[in-house]
Amino acid sequence: MKVLVVGNGGREHALLWKLSQSPLVEKLYCAKGNAGTAKLAENIPIEPVDVKALADFAQREGIDFTVVGPEAPLVAGIVDEFEKRGLKIFGPDKKASLLEGSKVFAKEFMQRHDIPTAEFHIFEDPQKAKNFIKDFSVPVVVKADGLASGKGVFVCKTYEEALRAIDTLMVKRSLGEAGKRVVVEEFLEGEEASYIVLLSGDRYVPMPTSQDHKRLLDGDKGPNTGGMGAYSPNPFVDEYTEHSIRELVVERLIKGLKAEGIHYRGFLYFGLMLTDRGPRVLEFNVRLGDPEAQPLLMRIKGDFLKTLLDFYQGKEISLEIDHRHSLCVVLASRGYPEKPEDGKEVFGLEDVERMEDVIVFHAGTELREGKVYTRGGRVLNVCAWGSGLQEARERAYIAVEKIRFEGMHYRRDIGNRALSRFS
Ligand code: AMP
Ligand code: GLY
Repeated sequence: MKVLVVGNGGREHALLWKLSQSPLVEKLYCAKGNAGTAKLAENIPIEPVDVKALADFAQREGIDFTVVGPEAPLVAGIVDEFEKRGLKIFGPDKKASLLEGSKVFAKEFMQRHDIPTAEFHIFEDPQKAKNFIKDFSVPVVVKADGLASGKGVFVCKTYEEALRAIDTLMVKRSLGEAGKRVVVEEFLEGEEASYIVLLSGDRYVPMPTSQDHKRLLDGDKGPNTGGMGAYSPNPFVDEYTEHSIRELVVERLIKGLKAEGIHYRGFLYFGLMLTDRGPRVLEFNVRLGDPEAQPLLMRIKGDFLKTLLDFYQGKEISLEIDHRHSLCVVLASRGYPEKPEDGKEVFGLEDVERMEDVIVFHAGTELREGKVYTRGGRVLNVCAWGSGLQEARERAYIAVEKIRFEGMHYRRDIGNRALSRFS
C-alpha cells in the first residue's frame, strides 16, 4: 500500500516510524516532512493545510490511505475533500474538528452534554471581559477561541495579567481572528493527563495514557507551549480514574456527538485536569498529541497500519501494549515559543543513533547537503524506553547530552513529579 502522512513534526515522524514496520507498506510519503521523515518516506513539498493540492497529489499518486497528524488541515476540511474524491483518510471531518477548532464550541458542547469542565464565560467584547474579570477570583485562565498551536492559553495569577491577556488577544489581536472571542475560565488544580482514543461513531479504543509538560521551563514555569516533553504510562491515571474518565467524559461525548448528528472518525485527545472532584476536560484535540504521540506509539506493539485500517473499516481491534515505559524530551530553539531561530546545524545525532533503547524523532529540522539544520521551534524529540519511568528518563537525558545546536534548550524535569510521587 501507498500511505501518506500529513504533517511536519515529531508526531508525524513517530507515525511514519510505526507505520514503516508494517508488511503492508509499499511506499510511504510525508507532506511535507522534515529531515527525519526523509529517511522513512518521500517528503512531498506541499503544505499540510493545502488540502486541495494534497488531494490532487493523493489521486495522481494512487495513495491508498492517508493519516493526518496536525489539527490545521483537519479544521480546514482535508477529510471532507479526500472523501469527496473517494480517497481513504483517517481523521475527523470539518464539522467534527470544531471540537478543537473552537474552544467556544467545545465548552458549549460540554455544557450541553454534562461533561465535567471548568466553569466558564464567553466574551466578544474586550471591555465586558475586563469588567467580568475584575469580579472573578484569581488565578483565572484566558483562552483564545481559535487555533493557536498551544499558545492561546494564559494562566493568569493576577488581575493585571488577565487584563493584559485580554488586550493581547482581543485588542492587539496577537493571534489574529483566533482571539476574536475568548473563554474566561476557572483555574483548576491537579495533575494533567492526556487521554487519547481511537473513535469511530460509538466505538472507541483507548490508547496508552500519557502526560505532557506544557510550560516552557522547569517547575512548570514560563509560557504555555505546544509541549516540552511527555511520558507514558501516566501513573496519575489509576484504574478508578480511568473508569471515571471513560464514563463521565468519553462516553458522554460519544452520546453528545450522536445527539447532534456529528459523525467522528479519528484520534480524539482529551486534555484533562485530574482534580479532587474528579477529571475535568481542559480541551479536546481532534488528533494525536505532540509530543504525547511519540512515547505513546513507542509502546504499541504489532502492525499499527493494519490496526488503523481495520478500525477504519469497522472491524474489532485491540491494541497490544509494550509494558515498558517511554519518555520524550523536546529540544527547542532559542526564542521558542515566541520567535524561534532557524538554520542552526545540529550535531551529535549519529552518537545517539548507536544507543540502545533510544530513538530521536525529528520535528523542526531540514536536510541540506547531508547535514541537519534547525527549522522551527521544537526541533528534536529525544525518546527512550525503560523498564520503569526512572530508567526511561535516565536514558533519554543521557542521549540529550550528546546532541547540540546553537541556542538549544530543554526542560530537565520531564517525569519528575510522577517519579517523586510514585517511587
Ligand atoms: P488547553 O489548550 O485549553 O488545554 O490549555 C493549555 C494548558 O493550559 C493546559 O494543558 C493546562 O496546563 C493549562 N490550563 C488550561 N486550562 C486550565 C484551567 N482551567 N486551569 C488550570 N490550567 C489550565
Ligand atoms: N501536546 C499537546 C498537544 O498536542 O496539543
